[in-house]
Amino acid sequence: MDRLLTRARLPAAALAAVVGLGLALPANAGDPAKGKGVFAAQCSMCHSNTKGGPTILGPNLYGVVGRKAGSLPGYAYSSGMKAAGFVWTTDQLKIYLPAPRNTVPGTKMSFAGLKNPTQLDDLVAFLDTLK
Ligand code: HEC
Repeated sequence: MDRLLTRARLPAAALAAVVGLGLALPANAGDPAKGKGVFAAQCSMCHSNTKGGPTILGPNLYGVVGRKAGSLPGYAYSSGMKAAGFVWTTDQLKIYLPAPRNTVPGTKMSFAGLKNPTQLDDLVAFLDTLK
């Protein structure tokens, strides 16, 4: 613990290196720059993320944090997603993304789930910048 606290007082460049190793990241923080890479690798084949971006297989995710599930006008959601009834918060995304079909029964999002907690935090931090 002492060693971690000492690391936290290191200058920014050194701290960035430590964070890069994943040693000093507080739980749930998340690095949006890294999350952008996770999105590119795991989500961009089905989702656009720019304002007014196109439907690919899934709905555009620009502004998803704060949006009611299943509510983007013009997108043909599954009845499961339309019935979800919650608003996408960062916490809700962290529940959904590791296990989409368990969280929203009947969803047509064919994605097994993002299990890596660091990638999940980074990705959700990135989604939270899309506004
Ligand atoms: C194989 C394609 C595919 C992949 C990969 C995929 N999705 Fe989806 N996603 C969909 C589809 C299709 C829907 C619509 C689900 C429905 O209507 O049940 C969806 C719905 C969603 C929704 C709900 C949006 C809303 O407007 O309510 C979120 C949030 C979401 N996806 C996030 C992600 C993220 C983040 C990733 C990457 C980790 C991802 N998805 C990967 C296809 C995909």
